[in-house]
Amino acid sequence: MGSAISKTGVGIIGCGNISGIYLKNLTSVFSNVELKAVADLDPSRAKAKAEEFPGVKALTVEQLLADPSISVVVNLTIPLAHATVGRAILKAGKSLYVEKPLAVELADGEELVRLAAEKKVRIGAAPDTFLGAGIQTCRKLIEDGWIGTPIGGSAFMLCGGHEGWHPDPAFYYKPGAGPMFDMGPYYLTALTALLGPVKSLMGSAKKSFATRTIGSQPKKGEIVTVEVPTHVSAILEFEAGASVTISTSFDAFGGTSHVPIEIYGSEGTLQVPDPNTFGGPIRFRKKGSKEWTELPLLFGYAENSRGLGVSDLATGLVEGKPHRADGALALHVLEIMHGIHRSAESGARYTIKNSCHKPEGLLS
Ligand SMILES: NC(=O)c1ccc[n+]([C@@H]2O[C@H](COP(=O)([O-])OP(=O)(O)OC[C@H]3O[C@@H](n4cnc5c(N)ncnc54)[C@H](O)[C@@H]3O)[C@@H](O)[C@H]2O)c1
Repeated sequence: MGSAISKTGVGIIGCGNISGIYLKNLTSVFSNVELKAVADLDPSRAKAKAEEFPGVKALTVEQLLADPSISVVVNLTIPLAHATVGRAILKAGKSLYVEKPLAVELADGEELVRLAAEKKVRIGAAPDTFLGAGIQTCRKLIEDGWIGTPIGGSAFMLCGGHEGWHPDPAFYYKPGAGPMFDMGPYYLTALTALLGPVKSLMGSAKKSFATRTIGSQPKKGEIVTVEVPTHVSAILEFEAGASVTISTSFDAFGGTSHVPIEIYGSEGTLQVPDPNTFGGPIRFRKKGSKEWTELPLLFGYAENSRGLGVSDLATGLVEGKPHRADGALALHVLEIMHGIHRSAESGARYTIKNSCHKPEGLLS
């Protein structure tokens, strides 16, 4: 990802929590991009980040969108602002790379993908963890036949919620969040990268408690009204034939002993690492064996490489080839999450309309 000839000018809008790792990686790890400027609704945040990274300017959003040296804008604003800020970026004629989810509403996600095509610019989206060493190695192992034909799988993100540690956890229980919208993108993107797109699904979702009590400072004791389901599960049927059970929960107070993702094949089982990370461990058990074997990582980017998807998008722009963490993949994942909730409400199977290609693997 670092060998392209010309550097692509990049800007960032949104200088909150996650921006630090993007600034670090886009100024040091990925040499095919040049981070030119940052902007935020709160100018002091942009200024503080620019001061930390010499050569990066702090601009207003309008100035950044008008800067001709910038061709890709990374949108790191809050999910509820993804659609508005994304539209402005695309309308300015710049390519967009947005943190997860693509948008909160499915119609907004569809519009962003349409608008990018209309403007003849690129659209990409997080997570790019599937481009890391862990999932890329699993992708190759499956392609190389280690587990035979993938038959099924399981994916679990089970915890007791975030009100015990997060300083301001109310948003986890409001529309646009809940365990599936918050963490689903990592799991569903990884599963699509490993098994290809989902064809249809059956969902189940429930709100186990009407309220949650904040246990962390500074809002300790405050009551949060729960507005979204907090235990959300589904059976996903993939176009290629596999069937995967996924469960995401903020109501598993005793924790879990499940691994994040397992894929079951005709010749063996693969334990896939946490899709919210870039590295391992990967474990494999061959049909008939009683032992799990830890397998080595065969690709680079095992450390926190957020920005890898931006770099890949820039390579695609310069070399005129597709990028991997693209809008179609992010829209597919967004529709799966909405589909799970819709199926849970209606009791009916949901058929996916926005399919995508299984993203190409990286070269090892
Ligand atoms: N924090 C994490 O650990 C984490 C991890 C992975 C992904 N993400 C994703 O990254 C994104 C940002 O999360 P965060 O935790 O950094 O949020 P944050 O609230 O810390 O930061 C968001 C920033 O965006 C700015 N902003 C909001 N609306 C804006 C607008 N219309 N124009 C310009 N600036 C605007 C805010 O002022 C703030 O500085 C979200 O999409 C989130 O899902 C966060």
